[in-house]
Amino acid sequence: MAKYYINAGNRISKINKEIYGHFSEHLGRCIYEGLYVGEDSEIPNVNGMRTDVVEALKEIKVPVLRWPGGCFADEYHWKDGIGPKENRKRMINTHWGGVVEDNSFGTHEFMELCRQLGCETYVNGNLGSGTVQEMSEWIEYMTFEGVSPMADLRAKNGHPEPWKVDFFGVGNENWGCGGNMTPEFYANEYRRYQTYVRQYNASMDTEENIDTPELIRKIACGANIDDTEWTEGVLKTLFRHCEPRFHGHADGLSLHYYTHPGGWDHKGSATEFDEKTWYMTLAKAAYMEELIRMHGAIMDQYDPEKKLGMIVDEWGTWFDVEPGTNPGFLYQQNTMRDALVACINLNIFNKHSDRVKMTCIAQMVNVLQSVILTEGAKMVKTPTWHVFNLFKNHQDASLVESHIETKQIGEEEQFMVPNLSESASVDSEGRLQITIGNLSITEDCFVETSIAGFDGKKASAEILRGEMHAKNTFDDPDAVHTEAYEVKLSEDGLSFTVPACSVLRITVEG
Ligand code: AHR
Repeated sequence: MAKYYINAGNRISKINKEIYGHFSEHLGRCIYEGLYVGEDSEIPNVNGMRTDVVEALKEIKVPVLRWPGGCFADEYHWKDGIGPKENRKRMINTHWGGVVEDNSFGTHEFMELCRQLGCETYVNGNLGSGTVQEMSEWIEYMTFEGVSPMADLRAKNGHPEPWKVDFFGVGNENWGCGGNMTPEFYANEYRRYQTYVRQYNASMDTEENIDTPELIRKIACGANIDDTEWTEGVLKTLFRHCEPRFHGHADGLSLHYYTHPGGWDHKGSATEFDEKTWYMTLAKAAYMEELIRMHGAIMDQYDPEKKLGMIVDEWGTWFDVEPGTNPGFLYQQNTMRDALVACINLNIFNKHSDRVKMTCIAQMVNVLQSVILTEGAKMVKTPTWHVFNLFKNHQDASLVESHIETKQIGEEEQFMVPNLSESASVDSEGRLQITIGNLSITEDCFVETSIAGFDGKKASAEILRGEMHAKNTFDDPDAVHTEAYEVKLSEDGLSFTVPACSVLRITVEG
């Protein structure tokens, strides 16, 4: 039995909808086949975007999409991807699988995809191998309204109206694939490049920060995992002689952390794993909280008011590729283990939404921890998709104080995890939203909840559950699915059982 306390009267922070963001890279079958099939495809599409996939993504309310990479971003030259398709450069994607990149998906197509999804745009610029002029012209091309060489070129290519760039990443993993830089060198480069990422559509007098939507919010490259030296070095240089925010320098600092059960060299199978590996994976996922605290403490020193967002723009499981698939395509299946990893991470992000302002799961379709898998005309929604669907009511809700008395479980001392993962919010309709996962493979857990500051009248719930290896396949696409679930609301509070290996969403109406 576990005791759960919720104080709905204590609203802690806004859970930015962007915490539920996604990432799409020119990698494997994410963009091509997964999202974009071209207008002439037999697979039903609108302007080249797969209708089935777009519909499934709209259902989980994708708030923001990051593109074109990843490591690909620092090798991407945007002018290769505009203009008549037959004239676009063909090249080898040397980073990912050595396949031909025909640039048929470029800026116009990305903006069209985001239009169809109804989501914000997060474009990642090339600082590693591109020039300041190239980055500056891309911004002009996308956002300038009026007469200018790039705005004219955009009109010539069929889009006279400017687009909205909501977020712009100035480089990606510049400590590694984005140029192998030192933090100080990167931060100086960042300062220079971002100067020419002009805010054409906003007054610079605005008290801007990550929550000022009329601006392009600029994201600096942050650390890999626990590299606090990078965070410290970048912030020291960014804040030197100025507070970045006032100059529109930086609105966010990224963090990348992937969950590999046995480390980079022992990722293991996505579908075949034992109990020990289950707990090891979940413990590694839960490490996200320590990382947020670690980097957050450094950010607090420079930015105690938390105006600079922590942007976890790559997270998720990274296993061995499915046998027989291109190792450079990073295609992996998705099981209930991934569902629990998603649940743990999203609850952590909610709980730290005072600092964590956006996150992007890697990656949207057919790559790493995807919400969608495709094979030809077939599509499946993964267990991770279902978790995003269960959690979507947290988007733009207010995080409320909550605490659960839970025990540590696991099979090895160094990989123990809390039995339960939870977070709670009050949404814009005044409903209490609770998401809770049971990390145990074998034991159900009965939970007694006492709720303060909220007069609950009616409660309903939905559950995702299955055996730990359960997954959706192209032959059995609905094996893992959600269903309605019974919870009890009385004068004594809310009580319910969280079955082993499950994720639950409870909505309490006031
Ligand atoms: O998501 C796959 C790769 O992981 C990205 O391209 C890179 O940024 C990270 O190392």
